[in-house]
Amino acid sequence: MSFLKNLILNGKIPYFRIIRRIVLFLWVLPVLSYIFLDIGFLKYGELGWKLLITVMLIRPLSDVIPDIKIFKALVPLRKEVGILSGVLIAIHSYGYFAIKNKNIFIEIFNSQYWNFNGIFSWGIIGFIAVIILLITSNNLSIHLLKNSWKKIQQLAYVLFFASAIHITLVNKNEMIKVIIPVSIVMILWIMAKFRITIPKRKPENAEKTE
Ligand code: HEM
Repeated sequence: MSFLKNLILNGKIPYFRIIRRIVLFLWVLPVLSYIFLDIGFLKYGELGWKLLITVMLIRPLSDVIPDIKIFKALVPLRKEVGILSGVLIAIHSYGYFAIKNKNIFIEIFNSQYWNFNGIFSWGIIGFIAVIILLITSNNLSIHLLKNSWKKIQQLAYVLFFASAIHITLVNKNEMIKVIIPVSIVMILWIMAKFRITIPKRKPENAEKTE
């Protein structure tokens, strides 16, 4: 019990540095499975989307529910999970064209796919965002790009919303499955922006006078 309390409430994750190292290289597994196993491109997109939602949730959760410190402890892991999610999404996008013997890097310029009522344009926007995010998710890029690096990272929002629209259009009957997580993320973003916490924080001055 005290282990769980330490983990969830105090955010003490054992072997966290080792866990980060392991997660950093997990992206190799989907690459290998894509090359050697016949799983199909869809599963990669589904898992990539779930991990993307997780990455988008962690930061606002740590701000909005500060007493549950595991969220704050997990904030640094967003980079590693983000890379895994990005690789999965890239494989999904690449894989769709590969089964048709087409190259995604050529097809993104094909006007046939650029119809915003269809699934492809939103998918391609997500793919372009994910490729830029993956290329710049290393220390060398942070060093070279300096202040622009943070701006480029904002592409994560483009990826998130373009993916949400893509998936909604793919499966209009089950759009609730997209609307619920996207709404939760947005509500938490707004709460974090306005510094609303759960439980409500007392104003700092009130704490001092007690
Ligand atoms: C060039 C880019 C992309 C292409 C060509 C593409 C293509 C497709 C296609 C054809 C489907 C429907 C498959 C089927 O039902 O048999 C699909 C589903 C899906 N895609 Fe993409 N996609 C792209 C980008 C993305 C991105 C950026 C994401 C973000 C996570 C994503 C996530 C998904 C998910 C989760 C599904 C399953 C939706 C469901 O059935 O509920 N895709 N994609």
